[in-house]
Amino acid sequence: MSWNPELYHKFQKERFAPFKDLMDLIVVRGGLKVLDLGCGTGELTQMVSELLPESQTLGIDSSPNMLKKAVEKKHIGLDFELCPIQEVSGSWDLIFSNAAIQWVDNHEELIPRLVSLLNPGGQIAIQLPANHNHPTQQLIAETAGEDPYKNALNNWRRKWSVLSILEYSELLYDSGVEDINVFEKIYPHILDDVNVIIEWLSGTALLPYFECLPEDLHHDFINSYRKKLQDLYTKKPVFFPYQRIFFSAKLPD
Ligand SMILES: C[S@@+](CC[C@H](N)C(=O)[O-])C[C@H]1O[C@@H](n2cnc3c(N)ncnc32)[C@H](O)[C@@H]1O
Repeated sequence: MSWNPELYHKFQKERFAPFKDLMDLIVVRGGLKVLDLGCGTGELTQMVSELLPESQTLGIDSSPNMLKKAVEKKHIGLDFELCPIQEVSGSWDLIFSNAAIQWVDNHEELIPRLVSLLNPGGQIAIQLPANHNHPTQQLIAETAGEDPYKNALNNWRRKWSVLSILEYSELLYDSGVEDINVFEKIYPHILDDVNVIIEWLSGTALLPYFECLPEDLHHDFINSYRKKLQDLYTKKPVFFPYQRIFFSAKLPD
């Protein structure tokens, strides 16, 4: 998928609040080997590396565009690599991820595999968006289900891999971890109008549709989606509650 660092950063302030909540879950210890899954442009990888004294931190990401920005932050103890989350290996004292594993399928397989990469006493700490049932997301799928987009997409619509907090807690328990902490939180954003929602989602949830649709349909697709949003949100500003899942746990020492 073609990630755009500039567009992604437009909503940095809104995206920073959940990252702060994720950081609060991380147990600060010295000399850790740390892995950031889907590090993007590396700001958050750098902040975690600075939080943990004498750590060796590696950020991995599958987007060369995002990594190009991340590698500018490389220094002793902080490195970045092109690698898909599905292919990570090695052994780690902390595996964390902010807003990235929702792009990976089959969390039933992913979570136990990530736990299996932890050293004794190691921690996993993850934040992922869980807004897929929100009307703004449902209307993307609805637009994709109408012609000419349906035909151009061959009836494809994005399937979400995100599970419920109950399912994450069970997957963690079955993986043999302790200190399980799983919760959901709503971030209440107030945006000027539906165009801001479109701009926000153009940097994330709309990307798979842009990738699959021929370029000459992108503009029409957005206009069809905008009409549906305008029918839904008749007042300005627009209340855009954003639901996110957090989980953290550690392997016994
Ligand atoms: C929403 S951004 C989050 C970036 C960063 N963690 C942050 O919070 O700013 C999602 C990132 O996940 C990366 N990503 C998506 N699927 C991936 C995969 N299968 N393997 C590795 N990285 C992936 C994207 O390239 C993108 O940089």
